[in-house]
Amino acid sequence: MKFRCKRLVVAVAGMAVVWLTGMTMVNRATAQGQPAAAAKVQTAGEAFKNVTTSTLKGLTVDDFLGAMGVMAGALGYDCADCHPGAGSDKVDWVIDTPKKRTARKMVEMVATINRTNFNGVQNVTCFTCHHGRDLPSTTLALDKLYGPPNEEQPDIIQVGQGQPSAAQILDKYIAAMGGAQRLAGLKSFAATGTSLGYEGLGGGGSFQIYAQSPDQRSVIIEFKDHPERGDSTRAFNGKTGWVKSPRGLLTEYEVTGNELEGMRLDAELAFPAQIQKTLTNWRVGVDDVVNGQDVHVLQGRGPKGLLATFYFDTKSGLLVRLLRYSASPIGRIPTQVDYSDYRDVGGIKFPFKYTFSWLDGRDNFQLSEVKTNVPVDAAKFGKP
Ligand code: HEC
Ligand code: HEC
Repeated sequence: MKFRCKRLVVAVAGMAVVWLTGMTMVNRATAQGQPAAAAKVQTAGEAFKNVTTSTLKGLTVDDFLGAMGVMAGALGYDCADCHPGAGSDKVDWVIDTPKKRTARKMVEMVATINRTNFNGVQNVTCFTCHHGRDLPSTTLALDKLYGPPNEEQPDIIQVGQGQPSAAQILDKYIAAMGGAQRLAGLKSFAATGTSLGYEGLGGGGSFQIYAQSPDQRSVIIEFKDHPERGDSTRAFNGKTGWVKSPRGLLTEYEVTGNELEGMRLDAELAFPAQIQKTLTNWRVGVDDVVNGQDVHVLQGRGPKGLLATFYFDTKSGLLVRLLRYSASPIGRIPTQVDYSDYRDVGGIKFPFKYTFSWLDGRDNFQLSEVKTNVPVDAAKFGKP
């Protein structure tokens, strides 16, 4: 927990940093007026001066920075542990430090281990050995041996025996949300409320959520009392995604990598009637407990390595948690959304409270109002 706070402080302090290369990339993609899919997306190896590892250099810039988050999280580091001055305007991202050199070797080692032992399947990641520490422990502590069992779960769920089918669980969810007919009539909505960031950071904001069926969604957080923070936006218009994150390394960028599929999933799930179609290869796992509730566990897959696990309350049928992962060569990048306080809006249930957690922060959203089937300006889903 502690290292997260430390990282967030660094990220906030880093808001003065404008990463010029990143900005150039964004400008180039839009200046040509081409749709993102057609434009050639710059790789991290091209955009940055000193990115050379076999698996990271070919990533898009946003996926590369996601991989940096995986490294930092897996070792319990913040960016400054490998990049001197990160979080200040004296940062030097390019220089090689001893930790950075070791990390580069480890990136190649992970690729080799998976290739030579696991047919290229990503079974070993930074987290496999490091588990949030910089020096992996080597010997089992005897208190662990005689203590409570380790309840960490693998990303890929084990299929459970004697469970309801995926279709049954999803049908129960649809019924709990208001029924197929009412949900089919939901074409758009606009919601407002207040956000509370992790330990106060990012908090004190007011937000708007817009969604348009079948696959457009945006979340805009404004900090009226702290205009210096700037607005945060995540927007997806069915094709392209944008993130504006004034305190991040790239203050505003087009999402061009694997995370685009995660944004698509978030947008499609705003309209629950289509949940079954959002992913393929649905599998049902063993029941579990999430936030004190017994849950059925369901997992599906999407394009570009997208993997998503859903946790449905066994009694109410409602969705309690979505844990989705986008692919990265050194370990999956997790995003978790926890839903609660479901309320009825014109016969359809909306979670009035949700928590959005990712490697670099956690935002709590409390909705105050939801208006359904209102016209939404298409510009809300485009570049912020
Ligand atoms: C465990 C060490 C480690 C941590 C922690 C780490 N990085 Fe890196 N970073 C690296 C390595 C290694 C490279 C070079 C990768 C390569 O050669 O493929 C790199 C390269 C970069 C570059 C490219 C610099 C250039 O111009 O060549 C940027 C930008 C960057 N990291 C940002 C970050 C951010 C932001 C964070 C925090 C979220 C972070 N890094 C955390 C090890 C780390
Ligand atoms: C197979 C296990 C394993 C995996 C996988 C692994 N590491 Fe390591 N790593 C180690 C061990 C063991 C050490 C300590 C080596 C030593 O003490 O000489 C270490 C040390 C390090 C250090 C130096 C820490 C220090 O305090 O000096 C860094 C940085 C590092 N690893 C980064 C990574 C990154 C980034 C990844 C994923 C790309 C990764 N490691 C994956 C086993 C692993």
